[in-house]
Formats: sequence, C-alpha cells, structure tokens
Amino acid sequence: MNKIIAPSILAADFSNLQRDIEMVNNSKADWFHIDVMDGVFVPNISFGMPVISAIKKHATKTMDVHLMIVDPDRFISDFKKVGADILTVHYEACTHLHRTVQAIKATGMKAGVSLNPHTPIAVLEDIIGNLDLVLIMSVNPGFGGQSFIENTYKKVEQLKHLIEFTKSKALIEVDGGVTDQNIEKLSETGVDAFVAGSFIFKSENPTKTIENLKYLVSPE
Ligand code: DX5
Ligand code: ZN
Repeated sequence: MNKIIAPSILAADFSNLQRDIEMVNNSKADWFHIDVMDGVFVPNISFGMPVISAIKKHATKTMDVHLMIVDPDRFISDFKKVGADILTVHYEACTHLHRTVQAIKATGMKAGVSLNPHTPIAVLEDIIGNLDLVLIMSVNPGFGGQSFIENTYKKVEQLKHLIEFTKSKALIEVDGGVTDQNIEKLSETGVDAFVAGSFIFKSENPTKTIENLKYLVSPE
C-alpha cells in the first residue's frame, strides 16, 4: 500500500511560505498537514483562514487540516471554503461528535477525528464506521518539536484491530515527533499517514528528508 507523508506546515518558514509550499509540491510528499490552534483547546495559537487560503493558492496536494480548537462546528463551512480536503476535529473538543462528523461529510470533505495521548481508542467504537481518518496524537497537541510518546504503538495496534473488526475504511494517521527512527515501526504497526514537521523543515535538505521518509515506508 502507498503510505502517506504529510509535512506539517507549522514548522515551515512563514516568511518564505511560498518557497516551502513549492518544496512540498515538488517533493515525494502526499499531503499538506495544516495545524489550526485557538489558544483555548491548546496553549498556543497558530493561524486561521487567511493563511490557509494563501497556502491553498499554491498547494497542489491534498489539504489535511487538523483543528485544535473548541467547538469546531462553528467553522466547518469556512474551512471548506478556504480549501480543506480532510477536516479533522478533536474527540475532546466535540460534545456532539456524531453530528460534527456528519456536518463535515455533508460539505464533501473527508472527516477525521483526533485523540489526545491520554484518550483511549475505545471511545471511537460507536463512530469508527463514519470516519475517513483517525489521527492519533503522539505528542500533546499545541507545539511542534516535542518527543514522540512510546505508548502510541499500543494505540495504533488497538485502533487497527477496531478498524478490522468493524470493517471501517478509516485511515490511521500519527502526528508528533515522527522521525526516521520511528516511522518504520509505526508503519509496520499499521499507520497509513505520517505527519512530520520539525524533522522535515529543520533538516538540511527537506526534499531529501521527505524522500527518505517515503522510502522507509513505501520502498516500491
Ligand atoms: C502538534 C501538531 C503537529 C506538529 C508536529 O500539535 O498537531 O502537526 O506540527 O510537529 P513535529 O513533527 O515537529 O512534532
Ligand atoms: Zn497536526
């Protein structure tokens, strides 16, 4: 299976955003991972609609938007308008998650749900059949450049079982602290899509780093 590499734009150089977007366009990456933080759900603020519109103007690949915001229902149609293809909300931020997921799908976007490191996979039992993607946080959301939490492997394994048991079509994505040291084991455990920020953008040659990550999980 073709595994997905999703560079996280949070780690890009915002004063050279177009350059970094073109780099991703011309690389072996598959998606743009775009982190929206509101300073309430997470202790940090990233960017919003104007910046996502600007990214969309140049991006030629899937826009994978990860919302770390409270009450995301307020903005679903706005994220569709600025070009999101996949919209992922946090389980911990949604009181009526089933309704939120339906609302995302009604716009034509794919719907994802993300779990914080402390949230067990079991909470997805009654929603997994409706999801296109599950995003397992392998760090506490809010910042790039943190170290990977080892308990993630166990969660990926449990999620893989749940997906197989329910015949769900959801993809498994992991976000936070992904490097060339853990990506192969994650892939073997069942991860389909890998978000990487610092490891790509802080490297000497981001294009080569993406190519190497891709090769480690999809050698053909
Ligand atoms: C963290 C974000 C991540 C972040 C990952 O809250 O959701 O997407 O950019 O950054 P790294 O790869 O540096 O851990
Ligand atoms: Zn993210």
